[in-house]
Amino acid sequence: MTRSVSFALETIRTVAWMKEVARQARAEGRIIGLVPTMGALHEGHLSLIHRARQDCNPVIASIFVNPTQFGPKEDFTKYPRSFESDVAQLSAAGVDSLFAPDAAEIYPNGFHTYVNVEGLSERLEGRSRPGHFRGVATVVLKLLEIVQPHFAYFGRKDAQQAGIVQQLVRDLNLNANIVVCPIVRESDGLALSSRNAYLKPGERRAATVLYRALDTARKEIASGARDALHLQAAMRRVLDAEPLASTDYAEIVDAGTFEPVTQIRRACYALVAAFIGGTRLIDNMLIEPREGAEGDFHVSL
Ligand code: PAJ
Repeated sequence: MTRSVSFALETIRTVAWMKEVARQARAEGRIIGLVPTMGALHEGHLSLIHRARQDCNPVIASIFVNPTQFGPKEDFTKYPRSFESDVAQLSAAGVDSLFAPDAAEIYPNGFHTYVNVEGLSERLEGRSRPGHFRGVATVVLKLLEIVQPHFAYFGRKDAQQAGIVQQLVRDLNLNANIVVCPIVRESDGLALSSRNAYLKPGERRAATVLYRALDTARKEIASGARDALHLQAAMRRVLDAEPLASTDYAEIVDAGTFEPVTQIRRACYALVAAFIGGTRLIDNMLIEPREGAEGDFHVSL
């Protein structure tokens, strides 16, 4: 007879307790995986958990809607929060511990230290959202210090964020290995995002325009286009043709530095950002040289 025994997922509210749980796991020689999130979980988040479970035990997820990464006019107060259902999903996905501190636990009175990854943080998302990556880098550094995981998992959906975290880890000699996981999409191509919940039905249909713009560039690359300006113009044409969309950027950048390129010669990202009504969405695709085929590129959407 098989018996299924389910344990309630342990929710850790304090830094001290989180440190103690992680310290014990390390002392037992276990491989710790960390998956940082802001909650309102969807299959994109869960894909990171599944990946972490392949490499690590325990897997620790965090839910913290980080106030310092939201601009004064951004959606911090209305950011979707669904703690009960998040806990159920994490529990079903096999997460071992959930770190869910409140804001005063992470930023107590008298908090004054921020970390800024220069250069990378000022471009693209950073230009449209000043201070955003300072908040991201600060909270990710704190999470990496509190948990000290062997591996930490981030989605390529936020490619620039993942690049900034990798730079942070390199520059500050942190021990975590950063694993960047593929983008999970709806069947019509829309990248899963907690902010998709803001979209009204007509906007939801229009939101596929980000994917359509990238897919247009993908087809151009498949037929031999390598000129970045040409590809950017092609993406912009698709975005600008959508009446409910207002384009923020459509760029091709080096995959390591996020500096603009003129030609696709090495690994690059095509990155797009647009407002659909009042909702700001981002998406990207990775363009990589195909091994053993000089001048040929493989595109991951
Ligand atoms: P959040 O937007 O909740 O995302 C948490 C993680 O899930 C990020 O690494 C993000 O890239 C990944 N993710 C989101 N949508 C995805 C998708 N469709 N496919 C694959 N991965 C996806 O990103 C943040 O939170 C915060 O900035 C955080 C890193 C937690 C710091 O506060």
